[in-house]
Amino acid sequence: MKKILVTGGCGYIGAHTVVDLLENGYEVISIDDNSRSGTYLLDGIQKITHTKIKNYKVDLKNFDETRAVFQENEDITGIIHFAAYKAVGESVEQPLLYYENNLFSLINILKCTKEFNIPHFVFSSSCTVYGNPDSIPVTETSAEKKAESPYGATKQMGERIVQDYVKAHESNAILLRYFNPVGAHPTTFIGELPVGKPQNLVPAITQCAIGKIKEMTVYGTDYPTRDGSCIRDYIHVCDIAHAHTLALEFLINKKNTSAVEIFNLGSGNGVTVLEAIHAFEKVSGKKLNYKLGLKRPGDVIAIYANNDLARTALNWNIKYDLDDMMRTAWDWEIKIHKDEELVSTQNHVLN
Ligand code: WQD
Repeated sequence: MKKILVTGGCGYIGAHTVVDLLENGYEVISIDDNSRSGTYLLDGIQKITHTKIKNYKVDLKNFDETRAVFQENEDITGIIHFAAYKAVGESVEQPLLYYENNLFSLINILKCTKEFNIPHFVFSSSCTVYGNPDSIPVTETSAEKKAESPYGATKQMGERIVQDYVKAHESNAILLRYFNPVGAHPTTFIGELPVGKPQNLVPAITQCAIGKIKEMTVYGTDYPTRDGSCIRDYIHVCDIAHAHTLALEFLINKKNTSAVEIFNLGSGNGVTVLEAIHAFEKVSGKKLNYKLGLKRPGDVIAIYANNDLARTALNWNIKYDLDDMMRTAWDWEIKIHKDEELVSTQNHVLN
C-alpha cells in the first residue's frame, strides 16, 4: 500500500482529501500542529473510512521535529502539502504571521522531501495567485497579477519555491490552484470548522442561519458586477479532495509531461455573493439576516476558473453543484451545532 503524507490532515480540505485517499487504497499519515484544527475531524475520518490515521502534532516551522517524522516513515511515496493559514482578510491584518507560517513550513517540508528522496509533491495553491485578473475565466497561463493580499502573495511565492526546488533536484510536483472550496462531506462527519469568527462566506452564512452570529455582512455591493457583489467560483470540497488523489496518481503513473504541472480546481461557474446567499436561502428554507456593508481590503472583484485542463488531463469529473454545496454546508452546521460541546473540547477554538 503506498504511503502518503498529508500536511494539515486535521484541517478542512486536508481531512476530506485523507478520506478520498483512504477510499482509493492509500495509507495516509498526517502532520498537523492543530493550531487551527483538532481531533474532531480525525474522528470524522475514522467514522467514514473505519480507519484511524496517525497525526503527528508537529509545528512544521520546527525543522528537527518535522525531520523526525520522515525518519520514522522511510516509505513515503508522495506528499500533499496543505498546512497553511488561508484567510485573506486576516492576512491583510497580520502579514508577518502569514509569511512566517506559510513559507517556513513549506521550506522545511521541501528540505525533508529532498533529504528523504520523496518523488511526488502536490502543493495546495490558490486562485489568489491571479490577483485581480484582466479577463475571466482564468486559465493556468493567465497572467499572475500582483496578489491582492499577503495570503495570495504566500501562494505566489510558494509556487515559485516549489518550481525552483523541482528544477534543482529533478523531482516532480503539481500545483493545484483552488478557487473557493465550500460545503462538507455528505455524511456530515467532516466539514469546515472555522476558528473564531468565520472569515469565509459560506461558514458566515451557515453560522448566521443557525444563530451562532446575529447577522452577516455582504462586503461591498457597488463592484462592477451584475449585482454589485463580488464574483467567485465555489467548488465542493469533496470535488477538490478527489482532484488531489487524481493529481498524485498522475505523478505516480508518470503521466506528467513536465516536472511541474499546474491545474485550476474550480467549477468554472462565477457566482456573486448575493446569488450564493439566495442559493442558501432556497436550499435551507431559511431567510438570512444580512446587511450590505463596505468592501473588504484584499478582495478581488471577480474571478472564476477555466477548468478544462484538470477535467481532461486529470480526468476530473465534478460531482457537486451549488445547491449541493449549500445543502451539505447547512447539514454540517446543524450537526456541529448539536455537537458544540464536543467540537469545542476537541478543537482549538480561538475567541
Ligand atoms: C468570498 C466573497 C467576500 C465573508 C477564499 C479562501 C482562500 C482561497 C480563495 C483557497 C468575498 C465575501 C465573505 C463575509 C462576505 N481559497 N464575504 N461576507 O476571500 O475569495 O478566499 O477563496 O485557497 O483561501 O479564503 O473567500 O469566502 O472569504 O470571500 O461578503 O462574511 O464573500 O468579500 O467577496 P475569498 P471568502
